Amino acid sequence: MTDDLLVLKTETDAALAAAGDLRAWDAVRVAILGKNGRLTGLLKELGKTPPEQRRERGAALNQLKDALSGAIEARRTALEGAALDARLAAERLDPSLPPRPVPAGLIHPISRTMEEMTAIFGAMGFATAEGPDVEGDWNNFGALNIPAHHPARADHDTFYLPGLDGGTPRVLRTHTSPVQTRTMLTQPPPLRVIAPGRTYRADHDATHSPMFHQCEGLVIDRDITLGHLKGCLIDFLRAFFGIASLPVRFRASYFPFTEPSMEVDIGWNRKTGELGAGGDWLEILGSGMVHPRVLANCGIDPREWQGFAFGMGAERLTMLKYGIPDLRPFYESDIRWLRHYGFNPLAPAMLHEGV
Ligand code: PHE
Repeated sequence: MTDDLLVLKTETDAALAAAGDLRAWDAVRVAILGKNGRLTGLLKELGKTPPEQRRERGAALNQLKDALSGAIEARRTALEGAALDARLAAERLDPSLPPRPVPAGLIHPISRTMEEMTAIFGAMGFATAEGPDVEGDWNNFGALNIPAHHPARADHDTFYLPGLDGGTPRVLRTHTSPVQTRTMLTQPPPLRVIAPGRTYRADHDATHSPMFHQCEGLVIDRDITLGHLKGCLIDFLRAFFGIASLPVRFRASYFPFTEPSMEVDIGWNRKTGELGAGGDWLEILGSGMVHPRVLANCGIDPREWQGFAFGMGAERLTMLKYGIPDLRPFYESDIRWLRHYGFNPLAPAMLHEGV
């Protein structure tokens, strides 16, 4: 190969090595093999070469052309491979990494409490029952042994709604207890259900909201005793609050639909708000053995079946468990409050099993 061809070969190799990406590579390609490229120019000049040298020069040029084309293609392949590797590295995704904290779409503390109650009672064999927010007067009161002029009605601050077709007024349910009525009327005993849901009372101040949440419980079987009631609620409260030694006290009380009735208190420190110790008591839920008249009202023979029921306020339990001081922001949909008190939907609920 003559000197000028050797120079072209050396310079092309150097330019290809220096081309760091496909764009630089293409510039080199055009500068050598393009219409006005250096090699193309040399080939065009072949015609001016004296005939006696033309053969040899032509063969050398062809050899050089093959060598340069090969080198240019090889460089392209290398650059394309490197570009693909870089892209794959940039797009690398590790599906085994834990999810990042989600900045929006958190679970409301009340929903979280409802989920936890459902999970804890579910583990004890309770199914979940539901009823409508707008109830018949009989389901909410009458069947539960609260007739028309019973004094217990006065405690409920009921929202009354017009009856259908001029019939008896309907109510926004004042507690979840009408789900007891519905369950007993539609399912044969034995029964073991909870009923979490919305409830309404015409009461509005710092500690009362006209809409709030309760969770009802109902167990009906042949040999259910007060001992079952106590064991069930002690287990639930200790699991819910995650305190194995949480003191629980049963105090005689009155509800028209249970006999005997008991209010349930948990131990806490009134000054610090700390649960589980401190010598003070905090009322947390109502309970009792289902009144025989309620069983009979709902078509269950009280000589054959008995059981217990309980009802608790979800807001109260939530505020105590998570140290939320004020009830009103629960319903204000303030995104800052939700960010502070909300729960990551991907984090599993704490169940404190085995407590
Ligand atoms: N329904 C009662 C209330 O709202 C609570 C309760 C339910 C009490 C079941 C005893 C049995 O206060």
